Amino acid sequence: TESDCKGKIAIVGSGLIGQSWATIFAGSGYSVTIYDIDSEQVTRALANTKLTLERYEQDGCLRGKLSAHQQSNLICGSNNLKSCLQNALYVQECVPESIEMKKEVFTQLDEYCEEKTIMASSSSCINSSQFTEDLKHRSNMLIAHPVNPPYFLPLVEIIPAPWTDPEITAQTRSLLEEVGQSPITLNKEVPGFALNRIQYAVINECWSLLQSGVLSAADIDKVMYEGLGRRYAFIGPLETMHLNADGIVDYCKRYAEGAYNVSATFTPPPIKYDIPTAELVEKELRQITPTDKANERKQWRDSQFAALDKLKRGSN
Ligand code: NAI
Repeated sequence: TESDCKGKIAIVGSGLIGQSWATIFAGSGYSVTIYDIDSEQVTRALANTKLTLERYEQDGCLRGKLSAHQQSNLICGSNNLKSCLQNALYVQECVPESIEMKKEVFTQLDEYCEEKTIMASSSSCINSSQFTEDLKHRSNMLIAHPVNPPYFLPLVEIIPAPWTDPEITAQTRSLLEEVGQSPITLNKEVPGFALNRIQYAVINECWSLLQSGVLSAADIDKVMYEGLGRRYAFIGPLETMHLNADGIVDYCKRYAEGAYNVSATFTPPPIKYDIPTAELVEKELRQITPTDKANERKQWRDSQFAALDKLKRGSN
């Protein structure tokens, strides 16, 4: 019933990411109201989240203690932003990635929110200072950037603007932890946040290796999924250094010079992901995954993510 539920979460924008957030919050018993500028999309989102939760239940990966049926009952739709926001303790904005749209939506949120409502944007590369500066409730606004698919890749990057109240940042982090995500907090805004900066550093080197013809695209990917990726699914690069010697200081004493000499041979960034190179890679990747098999391959990928998530949640 309404009185058992923990509180209200508003999801603004109900595409891929909005729907994922809805399943996550409902999973730990929050009541979720979904709003979208396109009212038919709200209907689709409600049907999709219901089906998704049922599938997770069948596959044994549904989160939380409630059944899929109970969780879907916690999710409702709204065609009115003002009523969607009424009494919401937290808003997760999930509209398309454009400064103009974020600005428009946050201006509306600013008008309709309660004094204490936390307003987080899912933006994957726009810092919130680019669209909240002039707003009355800007100290309640920040970025909470998920990783796709958020149900199985739980990292969320929290990035406060210079004017975000540190208490709001802390509350966002504990809410996201409570619902089973794994948040990190950036102390200041930086282009690309942390995940994409690190991801681009990796892709940059893959691109250089491709261009210099050192190894095939398939073998480059294998470096990650059979080597580094397996390691990093459990311990990060810094702890790897720490454990591969007698502590990270010892690691640096032994290996820093070698790493420095290798790094000196890197192609300096910025690196353009040029189309001729991309076309060569595409040709190779199409042999592994032909166009008509792409959806199957995506489903396989997501089921592997789900299996890894189960392993990690069990082992943590
Ligand atoms: P999407 O295109 O699937 O969904 C966007 C939804 O917003 C649509 O349903 C659209 O009708 C609705 N919308 C448009 N204008 C609106 C408005 N003024 N008010 C309310 N709703 C409105 O987009 P997606 O992929 O869900 O992305 C949403 C956000 O999440 C973007 O900022 C994106 O960068 C971020 N993100 C996306 C990831 C991905 O892999 N797709 C991963 C992490 C973050």
